[in-house]
Amino acid sequence: MAKKPLHEDPIKHIVWKGDRLIVLDQRYLPRTVKYATCRSAADVAKATKDMVLRGAPLIGCAAAYGMALAARRNRLSEVLKAEPVLRRARPTAVNLMHALDHMLAVAKAGPEKTLSKRMAAAAVKYYEDDLGFNARMAALGAALLRRGSNVITHCNAGALATAGIGTAVGMIRGGWLAGKVKHVYPCETRPYLQGARLTLWELMMAGIPATLITDNMAAHLMKTRKIDAVIVGSDRIAANGDVCNKIGTYGLAILARHHRIPFYVVAPSTTVDLSTKHGDLIPIEERSIQEVVEIFGAKIAPKGAKAHHFGFDVTPHALVTAIVTEKGVVSPVNGANLRKVLNS
Ligand code: MRU
Repeated sequence: MAKKPLHEDPIKHIVWKGDRLIVLDQRYLPRTVKYATCRSAADVAKATKDMVLRGAPLIGCAAAYGMALAARRNRLSEVLKAEPVLRRARPTAVNLMHALDHMLAVAKAGPEKTLSKRMAAAAVKYYEDDLGFNARMAALGAALLRRGSNVITHCNAGALATAGIGTAVGMIRGGWLAGKVKHVYPCETRPYLQGARLTLWELMMAGIPATLITDNMAAHLMKTRKIDAVIVGSDRIAANGDVCNKIGTYGLAILARHHRIPFYVVAPSTTVDLSTKHGDLIPIEERSIQEVVEIFGAKIAPKGAKAHHFGFDVTPHALVTAIVTEKGVVSPVNGANLRKVLNS
């Protein structure tokens, strides 16, 4: 099968219609492809909270469109009211806060009579910028890989999580096109199964050889097979380079270090939070334990079972080989190098 070019987007997962935002409902993928319509900022906030859409950069893009919806009647007061509703939707992905800060600044920067037009244009630009970041990171990231690499990835940091081809999956797709990626092992990513449901779906659509593993198979695979890289995305990178990402990422980073496997994080500058000094200060989302004690409504733990459901964990920067941003590659990973690349 011919390799699909990077710009080809087989997934229409977020479509701006001017007076509404159509989003692919990721909760039912890959079995059912159905769309939800957001007509207000509150609808966007609810879709984000309920995981209809997810993934840090996509959450940011959707919030930007949510602000544009709030601006439709040219009333700044309605934008100011919508902003905290969107901000509360999810706590960890800092792209949400970045998008809202940006859109607030746009709202306040001109006359009220042009509010709707300015906000819609800014939201479209915010989305298009993310799309461009993805392509740039794919090229920069692919250059780091050795030919014929077998890679592990976690969660879904692909097209579904961004405006473009994805962050970690974008680097994988860039590497695949350049003949550098041979095989991909997505971890299933308990409990929400973003790896099994979403990443594997994307990789298969792109024609990239991929084999699903459960999260607890990663160590065995690293020990017994040739694994050349672990590549993940991020929800928030602290000022010192600590990386917050989907629960399970920290464990993968420790395993990679033990097996001397490079551990790459791919994330746009909109994921970097210089106001948070280190990773332990990042708010970690705790989700309903129903998502742990049940799978698709089927109970798997005893009635009344206690459970934890941490959505994310933090990988210390010392375990990260490189952070790939659209502005350049940060390596070794530390606060000074991160700032240097971001300011370049
Ligand atoms: O809870 P989710 O599915 O929104 O978590 C997504 C992740 O953890 C991704 O790895 C991260 O947002 C990077 S997406 C390019």
